[in-house]
Amino acid sequence: MKRKLVIVMVGLPARGKSTMARKLGRTLELDGVKVRIFNNGELRRKLDTSENTSSSEFFSPVNPTGKELREQISRMNIEQAQAFLREGGEVVILDASNVTRERRQSIAAAFPGMALCYIECLNTDEEALEANLERKAGLKEFRHLTPEKALESFLKRIAYYESIYEPLDTEPNRILVDSFDSCILQERITEVLPYYDRIRDIITTRVVRNLFLVRHGETHYNREDRIGGDSDLTDKGRDQANALAEHFNTIRIPIIFTSNYKRTLQTATPIAERQDPCSIIALPEFNEIHAGICEGMTYEEIRKKMPHVAKARGPNKYRYVYPEGEGYKTMEDRVHRGLKKVFFLNNYDENIMIVGHRAVNRMILSSFLSRQEEEIPYIYMPQDRYYHIQIDPHKRIFEMVAYKSTPPAGGLW
Ligand code: F6P
Repeated sequence: MKRKLVIVMVGLPARGKSTMARKLGRTLELDGVKVRIFNNGELRRKLDTSENTSSSEFFSPVNPTGKELREQISRMNIEQAQAFLREGGEVVILDASNVTRERRQSIAAAFPGMALCYIECLNTDEEALEANLERKAGLKEFRHLTPEKALESFLKRIAYYESIYEPLDTEPNRILVDSFDSCILQERITEVLPYYDRIRDIITTRVVRNLFLVRHGETHYNREDRIGGDSDLTDKGRDQANALAEHFNTIRIPIIFTSNYKRTLQTATPIAERQDPCSIIALPEFNEIHAGICEGMTYEEIRKKMPHVAKARGPNKYRYVYPEGEGYKTMEDRVHRGLKKVFFLNNYDENIMIVGHRAVNRMILSSFLSRQEEEIPYIYMPQDRYYHIQIDPHKRIFEMVAYKSTPPAGGLW
């Protein structure tokens, strides 16, 4: 019989532990493994109806009541996890900060004879971390505070955790994961661990629950065939945005990622208004290709006034860089960085929507499909349809959906 496995998440708040835990849990479950996640934060919020435990002082290491309550919650989850394993469960994931040696020792002592693996999550990307802190400070448990106070309280909580953080050193099997880059930074495994190859795989593989990749609605510039700029939606564009809002009305979208340009924000706003709640996060990484000296011109004007540009771009569209601007090739890094932010900021088990632009959406799509680079700048990116993407180890869906029709049926988890 295969040994049972206890996965212990370790890391400061907002470092992507829960997203990683869910990704592991969900994927192992799809593999047929009996797995369950035990999350201390969730249990605390469930038990605390008065919101007393969301105050930063609850997390102060010198607050004996807070400390005892947190230990109690940890013990409750450990007991639940033991029961789950006794009743046939194969893998448990203990999702909590688990930053002290004492806590980790008590976990190890609770599962004698079982394989234990510590997954420590780190995020070194300042911008992504900042955005995640802001997102977390907007969650339900801080709703009684102003956004500034909520962030202050959350930062203080993190500082308390930091003050008692003891590095993993004596623990036998441990992996250090960069949860922003989805890569393994350090690894020290000293025995045969059940499911270990699979776990490594899952950590580094992109899994997409549902990604809706939408292009903004029609703009005044689109109507005139002008490129770049920051123009508003036309009436037709607003109708398209409203039709999208209607179409996604019954599909839960907690965050919409856009660029900094008005046309994506104006498309996302009616969609967000029909969701409860939904935040819009504008990422500069998703701004449209910058056409440099050609910004604001029509393709016809470029052909006439700058024939050298049209001539050079035509045969080599992917690698061509507009004078004083960008090209598809030079956008690669920023668009991929934007996608990493999306996956870091979005809870693993929630749907994702990106409202982007023609060239940027082509780049996003091509990062999921294996396309030759010369094909990428010609991927069809209409304004009356969107791409729906689902990727897990057992499923790959790429489909174009006309949004006046019904949403994809049965395709959603
Ligand atoms: O026309 C809309 C637009 O998003 C422009 O802003 C951008 O320059 C262009 O599409 C990108 O498409 P292509 O690479 O085919 O010119």
